[in-house]
Amino acid sequence: MAIRQIRVDDDPVLRKKSRPVEVFDERLHLLLDDMRDTLTKSQGIGLAAVQIGILRRVVVINFGDGFIELINPEIIESSGEQREDEACLSLPHKAGKTLRPMSVKVRAQNRDGNWCLYSGKELHARCFCHELDHLDGKLYIDSLAPGEKVYSTRDYD
Ligand code: NI
Repeated sequence: MAIRQIRVDDDPVLRKKSRPVEVFDERLHLLLDDMRDTLTKSQGIGLAAVQIGILRRVVVINFGDGFIELINPEIIESSGEQREDEACLSLPHKAGKTLRPMSVKVRAQNRDGNWCLYSGKELHARCFCHELDHLDGKLYIDSLAPGEKVYSTRDYD
């Protein structure tokens, strides 16, 4: 297991579309384990493979009660609306208010290729949307709520 370097700011890889995972092998498990380590080290709640330069549809999340691994995830249902702060490990010292659904249902494969269902609301829904957007080269700054701007958090962190 290893800590991988997180790509930040204007790194062009962050704007690329990730490809689906087709083979659920040892290499995928190694990637997932490294993503777990990297997420823990950086004290984030979510990390997409593209953020460490791997263009595969893989996400690791930890809301504080264990890891969730999402392979080839899709949002299958969403409802409501929320306007709350978001930040990203790839855009350090910044935050901004986005417009997101209040709750979502996500379908994704696990590390063995089996399909699983997840649901989340509030912070959990924001995180699912944020991480899945990474797989299509989108960042939260593309989903800012009307009238909102990215602001610096450098004084606080
Ligand atoms: Ni992010």
